[in-house]
Amino acid sequence: MSGKFITLEGIEGSGKSTSLETIQSFLESRDIQYITTKEPGGGPIGKELRSMLLNKESKISSEVELLLMMADRRNHLDNIVLPSLEKGTWVISDRYLDSTYAYQGGGRGIDISKIDNLVNLLNIPLPHLTLLFDLSPVIALERAKNRSELDRFEQEPLVFHGRIRDEYLRLSELHQERIKIVDSSLNFDEVESQVKETLSNFLDEE
Ligand code: TMP
Repeated sequence: MSGKFITLEGIEGSGKSTSLETIQSFLESRDIQYITTKEPGGGPIGKELRSMLLNKESKISSEVELLLMMADRRNHLDNIVLPSLEKGTWVISDRYLDSTYAYQGGGRGIDISKIDNLVNLLNIPLPHLTLLFDLSPVIALERAKNRSELDRFEQEPLVFHGRIRDEYLRLSELHQERIKIVDSSLNFDEVESQVKETLSNFLDEE
């Protein structure tokens, strides 16, 4: 049996990483073999790409940023994601393709059709399930600021993060079967139970 590919998405500080533990405990309780990974930076060339992409000193245009994200993704797929899925191991990735639509499309303003072309060129598959952690950028950025020093994306103004959220919400309308929204404005227990319920529904449908 091939494994399932689940991705976590949302703006900075939306709580996706916090929910990773909930997801891990859920999968363990069902005896499901899984790995966790992330983008950018999940593949063998990812460490260097991630530091180029997040470093505030990097002088890269939006188009170069897009190409680096996509190169990182194909390398991640070839070396980590697809071999795991073929073995029947589930893959949980903190960010994936929807981040490119949201950040480079929504945030940077690159034409969505250009991203679609790259997706076709590189033959990028869609995940089976995506949890979209949705939160107002005002609250999310406050959280991100309190966490650590801001990276190249986090230091962008509020409107940038607002456009990213809007694009995520547009994607969730477009792919209602795959993208499930988690309301991150609720308290921890409520977020946790939404995550568990989403996973449980997903398993029931399999
Ligand atoms: P994070 O791993 O701490 O969330 O940081 C990764 C940053 O990279 C985050 O700001 C979102 C951004 N990003 C994109 O702009 N496009 C992408 O395709 C991906 C995967 C991430």
